[in-house]
Amino acid sequence: MKTRIIIDTDPGVDDALTILLALASPEIQLEALTTAHGNIGIEKTTRNALAVLEFAKASHIPVARGCSLPLVNPLNRSGDAVHGSSGIGKAVLPEPKSGPVEQHAIDYLIERILAEPGEITLFTIGPMTNLALAICKEPRITEALKGLVIMGGAIRSGGNITPQAEFNIHADPHAAHVVFHSGIPITLIPLDVTYKCLLTTADVERLNRIDSPVARFVRDATVPYMKFYKQYEGFEGCALHDPLTLATIIAPELLTIEEHYVDVDISGGISAGKTFADFMKVSKKPANMKVALDVRGREFIELFIERMESLTREI
Ligand code: BDR
Ligand code: CA
Repeated sequence: MKTRIIIDTDPGVDDALTILLALASPEIQLEALTTAHGNIGIEKTTRNALAVLEFAKASHIPVARGCSLPLVNPLNRSGDAVHGSSGIGKAVLPEPKSGPVEQHAIDYLIERILAEPGEITLFTIGPMTNLALAICKEPRITEALKGLVIMGGAIRSGGNITPQAEFNIHADPHAAHVVFHSGIPITLIPLDVTYKCLLTTADVERLNRIDSPVARFVRDATVPYMKFYKQYEGFEGCALHDPLTLATIIAPELLTIEEHYVDVDISGGISAGKTFADFMKVSKKPANMKVALDVRGREFIELFIERMESLTREI
């Protein structure tokens, strides 16, 4: 049976690749996207979500537009450097013909999750403002969700937006705090594992031996993303942060997962947005999530490429 998912997203190069991977995966039924501020502003993340679905011939999938600002902190404006000013690198997609649904993402999530308790798994691959406010407005969703998979955090790894914090959590740490303490069954996919999933230029060239819009999209979208990694991290390629969340469904055997009590620093100091696990159990608090701490990264990348190759035959 397919796993029914909604993705809360801020596309975003690797967000766009996640949408394509979900559509290319027979184990997954992508039911909706909700959009968030994050890599770029909400106008563009919503536009990109719609445009990617149309590109993938999946415009029947609804998109609900979400929050433009984090709960407390000012808007993070650093995403352009990584994802390009459009949010999808050098890829050019036509203006989407359809628009988002009328409902705000917060209400859309509440309605969809409560309508079918135990059915929907939510994936958040951007800042978690929408979900935090949905929990505050209707706490019953915490029991109605089947599960939540979060791309976010850096547990043993350093950060990618500050020396200690990961981008999605740092962009709205207060939202992450609400979600982490909500009681929802969470699986966290932090930088510790996503940095082991590196799509290389050779991989992208290999995919582009197939003459197809999908292969070209992957190449064009990842151009500035790879440039950023080369400049700041010193390697030819880019990390597939957000797509790795889907491994929890399509290849769970690749992930090494432990249960821990994890929290986030919202005290506003030098480690603002830092996520940390109580490995030594000194807080005596019960585990509040599963955390991926290792992955067979190369195997995930191969799977990603295989799925993109299969998508070239459909689009
Ligand atoms: C996360 O930050 C964003 O730039 C990516 O889309 C991903 O969700 C990685 O830290
Ligand atoms: Ca993202």
